[in-house]
Amino acid sequence: MNSLPLLDQHHRIHRSMRISVTDVCNIRCQYCMPDGPVQFLPNNQLLSYQQIAQIAAACTELGIEKYRITGGEPLARPNLHELFESLAKIPGIKDVALTTNGMMLKDQVASLVVAGLRRVNISLDTLQEETFQKLSRRSGLGRVLEGIEAALDQPQLSVRLNALVLRDVNLNDVVELVLFAKSRKVTMRFIEFMPLDASRSWTQSRMVSGSELRQLLSDRIGPLTPIASSNPAQPSTDYQFADDSRVGFIDSVTSPFCSRCDRLRLTADGKLRNCLFGKEEWDVKTLFATCNDDPLEFRHQFEKTIRDCVLAKAAAHGIDKAQFQPPERAMYQIGG
Ligand code: 5AD
Ligand code: SF4
Repeated sequence: MNSLPLLDQHHRIHRSMRISVTDVCNIRCQYCMPDGPVQFLPNNQLLSYQQIAQIAAACTELGIEKYRITGGEPLARPNLHELFESLAKIPGIKDVALTTNGMMLKDQVASLVVAGLRRVNISLDTLQEETFQKLSRRSGLGRVLEGIEAALDQPQLSVRLNALVLRDVNLNDVVELVLFAKSRKVTMRFIEFMPLDASRSWTQSRMVSGSELRQLLSDRIGPLTPIASSNPAQPSTDYQFADDSRVGFIDSVTSPFCSRCDRLRLTADGKLRNCLFGKEEWDVKTLFATCNDDPLEFRHQFEKTIRDCVLAKAAAHGIDKAQFQPPERAMYQIGG
């Protein structure tokens, strides 16, 4: 296989991939899922763990070195630790992280760490059960908090908390969230609400910008100073309080990081995407059938497919443009 980097037409080299293992989730966050019944993918349309590992091995030869496992809720897929075990065996992979809602983490975290997990992002949008129910249309904040504590009990595991703020739901919770994270010595990160919710309820005014949150937190807790990032492809900008504790912001809407994006996505049903907001997908799952299980032919076809996908990547997502149209698939179907 040729080892030229995965370079797009806008001079970006791609080094990271988010892999969704399922579109199933056990809660229904307003910023992601629809309210009514959801038709999830049938199991026979999902990539198997073996197929995901085969794709990751091919990607790693092309310079993708960092992976994040997402969903839906990735822990809803049975035996997720088996995927981590397979990925840990691939030479050249530097990092495999996990994004989860935390509800099923308590029971799985130990086996995931044994299988190689070292970094986890857990969603935490509120510390109030009532607000949790409003936001996620389900109950169970207690289980999330138990999951967080179980993760913090794993000395090898680095834990980050992610919050998404909807002005009409959990804006009053942000100070408490930051104080909670401070008390647990973990970084809280705030992610701007993007127009990727299944119910199409995104509006500029429902979204709370990072700059508004920074103002609120510095008024209520103390002054925040920006910290220079060591990794330019890192979408988060971190800030520090006077006691050195940190809080991060991913201002994807008000301050897009598209020009530094090094990320590709693989959906649970085996489609490559070059952007959350992309309109096109490149099918990888059918390559397994057309290549008749011949690994060399698969690599050849896969390389062609992923290079096409990278070359078609747009310069920017254009949420700020009048003609912006959200993608057909919502966040849980693409991979958060
Ligand atoms: N905008 C931004 N981030 C989102 N997520 C889900 N939906 C959206 C959205 N509309 C992210 C949240 C969540 C993770 C699983 O995916 O950060 O914690
Ligand atoms: Fe589930 Fe995550 Fe979507 Fe919430 S954001 S509904 S936890 S997939």
